[in-house]
Amino acid sequence: MKEQLEKIYANATEDLTKVSTIAELEEVRGKYLSRKGEFNEIKKNLKNLSDEDKRVVGALANEITQKLENALKAKHEEFYKKELNEKLMKERIDITLPGKYTPQGRVHLLTSTTNEIVSIFQSLGFSVVPQEHSPEVETEYYNFDMLNVPKDHPARDVQDTFYTELASNVVLRSQTSGAQIHAMEGKNPPIRVISPGRVYRNENINARKNNFFHQIEGLYVDKDITFGDLKGVLNEFIRIYFGSSRPTRFRNSFFPFTEPSAEVDVQCIMCEGKGCRTCSGTGWLEVLGCGMVDPNVLKGVGIDPDVYSGFAFGMGVERLAMLKYAVDDIRLFFNNDERFLKQF
Ligand code: DAH
Repeated sequence: MKEQLEKIYANATEDLTKVSTIAELEEVRGKYLSRKGEFNEIKKNLKNLSDEDKRVVGALANEITQKLENALKAKHEEFYKKELNEKLMKERIDITLPGKYTPQGRVHLLTSTTNEIVSIFQSLGFSVVPQEHSPEVETEYYNFDMLNVPKDHPARDVQDTFYTELASNVVLRSQTSGAQIHAMEGKNPPIRVISPGRVYRNENINARKNNFFHQIEGLYVDKDITFGDLKGVLNEFIRIYFGSSRPTRFRNSFFPFTEPSAEVDVQCIMCEGKGCRTCSGTGWLEVLGCGMVDPNVLKGVGIDPDVYSGFAFGMGVERLAMLKYAVDDIRLFFNNDERFLKQF
């Protein structure tokens, strides 16, 4: 039996020299050390020996299985380290590789410009009218009639205004000024509001004109409002928006809903006033219309023009953005060319 044990041990040791993976190692363990393994078969026969032999052979069996266990353990550790290293090498991360590009959205220049203008007027005490008081699809009543625009005014012409097929008097609004009427209807002064939004005009599209664009309407009605208040507010707005160094001018003008009326020009940023394609050679770009609210408009919404007065203005958002960021073509705002949009 002693020889048998030594023979098995020799075989096991021989087998161990041939294994090279943990899986093969486990096969060897199964073959010799499991319940059905070769050593157990021998141990089962111990009971047939004399007490003296039982003790000697039993001790030897224990000693040999222990040695084999140790050898298996050592091999297991060696293979485990080897296999782990191979796995780590295979899964190695090259931290010098460039990362995956995730495109990031951003706020459109017209939206950020609108937000900036709105927050300047908010800081001057104006609040934004609710969206339902500023519809893009509007009746002639709000877009023209209540703004004192005569029935035969050329702005009403289909060459200038888009009429819808909803009804003969329903238009895509050509100006945000209708929001003034919505803001005043059924309310008592003081009223101090602004209303940003999109407007539509039947234009031939070129570098300065698009068939839709954006305006911000403003209205302040209270007792004792004067043209001085109008100039003060607009000059303050321009100073904050452009900084104090940009030359501007108030110019006489006419609008049916204001009397007197004016327009504000800002010096062209592209040519610094020398005259270029963007400013049609004048050196100036008009950015807004304004004036004292016509008494007829106040009367129309039930506000007594002998008690109250007010000023109003409407500014072009694209123009203001073009003049601040030197954008020389209005179509750039709407072409969705990332090379342009990414710059802001
Ligand atoms: N609605 C005018 C336009 O689109 C701009 C304007 C001029 C608005 C004078 C006003 C104003 O509120 O008082 O050209």
